[in-house]
Amino acid sequence: MRDSLDHLQAHHGDFASFRDVMIETSVGRFGPIWWGVWDQHVRAEGPVTVIDLGCGPGMLLPQLRQRLPQARLVGVEVQPVMLETAREVAADCGAELVTADLAAALPLADGVADVVVAVMSFHELQFPPPLLDEVFRLLKPGGIFVLYDWVKRPLSAYLGDKPLSEDLLQHFREHCLFSTEDLTFLTQRTGMSVREVVGRRGGNFAIIVAEKPAG
Ligand SMILES: C[S@@+](CC[C@H](N)C(=O)[O-])C[C@H]1O[C@@H](n2cnc3c(N)ncnc32)[C@H](O)[C@@H]1O
Repeated sequence: MRDSLDHLQAHHGDFASFRDVMIETSVGRFGPIWWGVWDQHVRAEGPVTVIDLGCGPGMLLPQLRQRLPQARLVGVEVQPVMLETAREVAADCGAELVTADLAAALPLADGVADVVVAVMSFHELQFPPPLLDEVFRLLKPGGIFVLYDWVKRPLSAYLGDKPLSEDLLQHFREHCLFSTEDLTFLTQRTGMSVREVVGRRGGNFAIIVAEKPAG
């Protein structure tokens, strides 16, 4: 298996442009639907711990800070260009940044998190399922996991009017590997129970909310 940074380089190419895209599009990802799901399922308040796996430039962290002024907020990221921006964003909103590879055991204690989120990062791993076991390990009993990612679509829908190329077909493999049912299955097999599944953007994406049993 390739090293995670080599794999990400092949997936994204120019990271400075990709970081800018992630910043520009964050308004859509973390808009009313995201916060509606959050308010319905995440009851956390006070000095809780929220971990953002694959936080990219960290655009979710200031928004979490607005809602959870006393929380410990932790972004996890491995890509240097993303980390550069995330460091500034995290410093401004009093969040921690952990430089770590989601493909390996994370340097965070068992049962530390009230909430774990993974937004558009799961599909970027070469072998994603073990990350869900890591989420289970990190969560407190009764803790909430929110997975937001690409889901499988027909090639025609994925392409739209773009011409088919080798590069786009490779992205199709990576973005359209798991269906919503597959993500639900993979999440449940860790021992978490799925509370809600929300389709997004005409079926391109899904938000899956799961809970670790209370114990
Ligand atoms: C599509 S971006 C999404 C960023 C952010 N979650 C957001 O929604 O704005 C996915 C992020 O996951 C990170 N990522 C992918 N694989 C990773 C790995 N193995 N370890 C740590 N971070 C990873 C990438 O570097 C990238 O910043």
